[in-house]
Amino acid sequence: MDQKKLEDLLKMLQVNQGDLAKLSEQQRKDMKDYKFWKTQPVQKFGQEVDKEGPIDAQKRPEDVPADPLPMLGEFEWSTVDIEDAAQLEDVFVLLNENYVEDKDAAFRFNYTREFFHWALKPPGWSREWNVGVRVKATGKLVAFISAIPIDLAVRGKDVRSVEINFLCVHKQLRSKRMAPVLIKEITRRVNRQDIWHALYTAGVVLPSPISTCRYAHRPINWAKLQDVGFTDVPAGKTAPEMVAMYALPGKTKTSGLRRMAAGDVDAALALLVKYQRRFELVQKFSKAEFAHWFLGEDESASDDDASRVIHSYVVEDADGKITDFFSFYSLPFTVLEHAVHKELGIGYLFYYASDADFAFDDRFSAEATAALKTRLTALIGDATILAKQAKMDVFNALTSQDNTLFLDALKFGPGDGFLNFYLFNYKAFPVTGGIKDDKSYDTERRSNVGVVML
Ligand SMILES: CC(C)(COP(=O)(O)OP(=O)(O)OC[C@H]1O[C@@H](n2cnc3c(N)ncnc32)[C@H](O)[C@@H]1OP(=O)(O)O)[C@@H](O)C(=O)NCCC(=O)NCCS
Repeated sequence: MDQKKLEDLLKMLQVNQGDLAKLSEQQRKDMKDYKFWKTQPVQKFGQEVDKEGPIDAQKRPEDVPADPLPMLGEFEWSTVDIEDAAQLEDVFVLLNENYVEDKDAAFRFNYTREFFHWALKPPGWSREWNVGVRVKATGKLVAFISAIPIDLAVRGKDVRSVEINFLCVHKQLRSKRMAPVLIKEITRRVNRQDIWHALYTAGVVLPSPISTCRYAHRPINWAKLQDVGFTDVPAGKTAPEMVAMYALPGKTKTSGLRRMAAGDVDAALALLVKYQRRFELVQKFSKAEFAHWFLGEDESASDDDASRVIHSYVVEDADGKITDFFSFYSLPFTVLEHAVHKELGIGYLFYYASDADFAFDDRFSAEATAALKTRLTALIGDATILAKQAKMDVFNALTSQDNTLFLDALKFGPGDGFLNFYLFNYKAFPVTGGIKDDKSYDTERRSNVGVVML
């Protein structure tokens, strides 16, 4: 998750393609100016990769210091026990109040206990990997970073890794080089457990992205988005025209579509594994991980659609076979100081899989492309309808996976934010991100990024 996502949501405006192409160049500093990152085992800009693999020589956990890095005088390290309600609340207060940049923000992320239990406690999660910094005198949590274990595969090679997320420094402590200390400390803790690689994403350009995807947004409740100042009437259009343009049917269309149940886990996982083989950067889910990520933590407790974090669906054909699967998660905004609206529902497309092009040898052939495009457009179209039923007002996706096949048809407008994917201590050839040089959707090459990060 990344503050850039918010910024581009806030600016669902027309963007000049030429300017965008230049933007990522401008965002990039000279390598020597990355005072921290130039000291880390990451790929340098423009560095030729001869062979994919680790950057540093293999070390042993015993070679890694057992004690945390020194912390500046008035602060102290604090391992946050996310199973303790009060400590978990410290985390979401920090994130809710500091993930958003501008100080008169009209919106805040509304992270909840349920969201964090889902996001931070997959099978194999480690208590040590929820790292906080507190003010010694008051105990106030002022910075946070987290890691969760993930079996990554990069072009078919297994890379045991962690996923780094929720890096946040309190607004009043910015630009004081606390982020590098947090990153070094989480690295130390992860290395102590014999893991040497990480996957992370950021809106900012760092050395060096393995892939870059673009955000896309599908307004669901356009009138509400306009009410809260999220979007505006484009020149030459009227508000009723916009509402009509984004209107969605009340019911889903795919026959055999139903919510995924515990009994579907084997079939849906097998389908996802088969589907994801096409991509070059993927997460390999165990059965327990799949159940965690797609059934959710305490789903039995919540049959109420609007309070669910993860929504997963399968399509079962007449013979009882699972042919398709899709999922999306919810991370709403709180709307501050608005007379009518208190919350903005936001849905994020997560993983999906379909057998639509399995019968073809070449997934890029015209026939395979047409078959998958038709099926995905129907499926993700239904996902937007279900998102609407779950009170979501906008639905976000990236240009990763095979998404560029349906983004235009389903009225996902290109955002002005990009998400860069990075690997720590692993060099690899670039992976296509679903955008062309001019940053428009690449419907031909699509993307080879299969992994989806929160
Ligand atoms: C991201 C954040 C923690 C950075 O803290 P900061 O106070 O701005 O920066 P610091 O002075 O501590 O550190 C600067 C260094 O961190 C790097 N950095 C900044 N953002 C980063 C990110 N998202 N991921 C990794 N490194 C990052 C900078 O490039 C710089 O290193 P360099 O000299 O090698 O270029 C802070 O801006 C924040 O909390 N933002 C809101 C939440 C957010 O966007 N989180 C990141 C999600 S990806």
